[in-house]
Amino acid sequence: MNEPKQRLQLEDLTFEVLLTEEQIQARIRELGEIISRDYEGKVPILVGVLNGAFLFLADLIRTLSIDCEVDFIKISSYGDARVSSGEITMIKDFSADLRGRDIIVVEDIVDSGLSVQYLKRRINSMRPASLKFVSLLIKKGAAKVELDIDYVGFEIENKFVIGYGLDYKQKKRNLKAIYQLVEENS
Ligand code: IMP
Ligand code: MG
Repeated sequence: MNEPKQRLQLEDLTFEVLLTEEQIQARIRELGEIISRDYEGKVPILVGVLNGAFLFLADLIRTLSIDCEVDFIKISSYGDARVSSGEITMIKDFSADLRGRDIIVVEDIVDSGLSVQYLKRRINSMRPASLKFVSLLIKKGAAKVELDIDYVGFEIENKFVIGYGLDYKQKKRNLKAIYQLVEENS
């Protein structure tokens, strides 16, 4: 049975549901189980990359069966456009002391990979015991740099997406599902 996908209109852009709330939450539970197993006996610091990853981080830590700590970093590469500016600005640095700790960076989406590359360098310079990356989404074929993401929720097409933390001009982060851009009517 092929039900028509739920659509959403924003200005002159048409979006279609890509991942439902149920699909997202089920995958997060799986990731939580894997991470709990991999970090058994350890207390990792999960570092959420603001703003996009705040919902994912909140849901992910509630699926963990191990102890963990939480910290946030805010960087910006996007401005209000739909394509990355490529330039990364630090807006809020870590609060925790990362030295000698097991760090898991929590990202909403990996697009060009420049954010991940920047974070990898910056965190490694702080001498953590280990460093891994988890991203809810990764865009196929979009990376401009070589990448190694340890835990990936979903591999998606190289199209603009919104919802579940991801914004368009700072809005629509509060959607429970993730929507993909299908048409531009301008
Ligand atoms: P990067 O290009 O891999 O450095 O990704 C930078 C950041 O841009 C991601 O962490 C997201 O916050 C944001 N981003 C990338 N692709 C999208 C998208 O399709 N929708 C909304 N935000 C995005
Ligand atoms: Mg992000």
